[in-house]
Amino acid sequence: MTLIDDRAPASVARTIAGISNGELSGSTCAPELTEGPWAFDLGMPGYGPGASQGDLLPAGSAAQGELPERYRRASGEELSSWIASAKASLGSRVAVMGHFYQRDEVVQYADFVGDSFQLARAARELPDAEAIVFCGVHFMAETADILTGPSQAVILPNLAAGCSMADMADIDSVEECWAELEARFGTSPDESGRVPVTPVTYMNSSAALKAFCGEHGGIVCTSSNASTVLEWAFERGQRVLFFPDQHLGRNTAKAMGVPLSTMPLWNPAKAGGGLSGEALDASRVILWNGFCSVHKRFTVSQISAARAAHPGVRVIVHPECPMEVVDAADSAGSTDYIVKAIAAAPAGSVFAIGTEINLVQRLAADYPQHEIFCLDSVVCPCSTMYRIHPAYLAWVLEELVAGRVVNQISVPSRVAAGARVALERMLAARPDTTMAA
Ligand code: 13P
Ligand code: SF4
Repeated sequence: MTLIDDRAPASVARTIAGISNGELSGSTCAPELTEGPWAFDLGMPGYGPGASQGDLLPAGSAAQGELPERYRRASGEELSSWIASAKASLGSRVAVMGHFYQRDEVVQYADFVGDSFQLARAARELPDAEAIVFCGVHFMAETADILTGPSQAVILPNLAAGCSMADMADIDSVEECWAELEARFGTSPDESGRVPVTPVTYMNSSAALKAFCGEHGGIVCTSSNASTVLEWAFERGQRVLFFPDQHLGRNTAKAMGVPLSTMPLWNPAKAGGGLSGEALDASRVILWNGFCSVHKRFTVSQISAARAAHPGVRVIVHPECPMEVVDAADSAGSTDYIVKAIAAAPAGSVFAIGTEINLVQRLAADYPQHEIFCLDSVVCPCSTMYRIHPAYLAWVLEELVAGRVVNQISVPSRVAAGARVALERMLAARPDTTMAA
């Protein structure tokens, strides 16, 4: 069986296969990734192989049923031709969205490729598409469903494509935290009209948390607009509760001049978040104890090694990386910021990039005039982004051709209404170039 499409030269699947069969030097964190994701769909509790395989999958997480055999047994060439002909017969009735971290074998069929902010905006601007096939992760498909019309179906090709960081904040724990903050700070605004706490959720969160923000005077941010959103929140609140990614919250607020001593870490597993009353009283940004296992892999010593081996190298990392890594890099920014920085550089530039390997390898192939490499030499993709394989894309598209909608992501209308408020506040906020300097 061929899992690799010949038209995907930058393919991470190809790299992992090459490492596993000894044709390429290097190492991967998960040699099992040479198998199709259907090998992990049934009966394996967890996120699957890749960067987040050690994270705790919450009980009741969505699981993918068995992919029909026709798709499991297909060659790369067969899948390509099935996808192409299904897309041709569906025409503008379907739009395929692809996040930058998707495999090349999937990205090549996407009508829109972008970061989570761009894809959210694009989904909103497609009123004529009957179906949006979202090649990304669950929270992105939920967001697309919230922003699109009631007659449009949003489809996630593999339901097991969640996000371990998003799962680190659940609605019950956030509500408990909120009740404790209300008990301490009350609900009355100060003399300048600012409420005690404004909640801000990263896009990488469930629709329930976005709805919580919408209903509590809060807002959503992505990594491409986090400082604009924090400014928005500070105008309205004395302090911010930021979830689920501690690193994006800390890195963004620090770049805005917020002292670290005013950013306590709320640990939902501990009573009172594990924080003293004094720490809460002094807080400007209360950070949730969540993180991304892909970006946690990047270290200051990788940056030192890159600088030693490549004098003049420009190091750019995603703001989900730990603070020490962002501080040691030349700049930090969203995936879109990284793409644009590379596109704008003079030929012959050398870049060491700290973000997901599918994007880094694609950039290296798209910009042969530069030298571009990943800071982490171990090939370790995002476990859940990697669960979207062309076999699932072929399946959901052929089901659509047959008039059947499978793997639809449907956010209940009450949750969607609150989440839409928080998302529209974000979409109305001016985009920024968070930490791009
Ligand atoms: P972007 O917001 O840059 O698209 O990143 C999404 C994500 O999941 C990063 O890990
Ligand atoms: Fe989630 Fe990290 Fe994967 Fe992004 S890269 S989807 S934050 S686990």
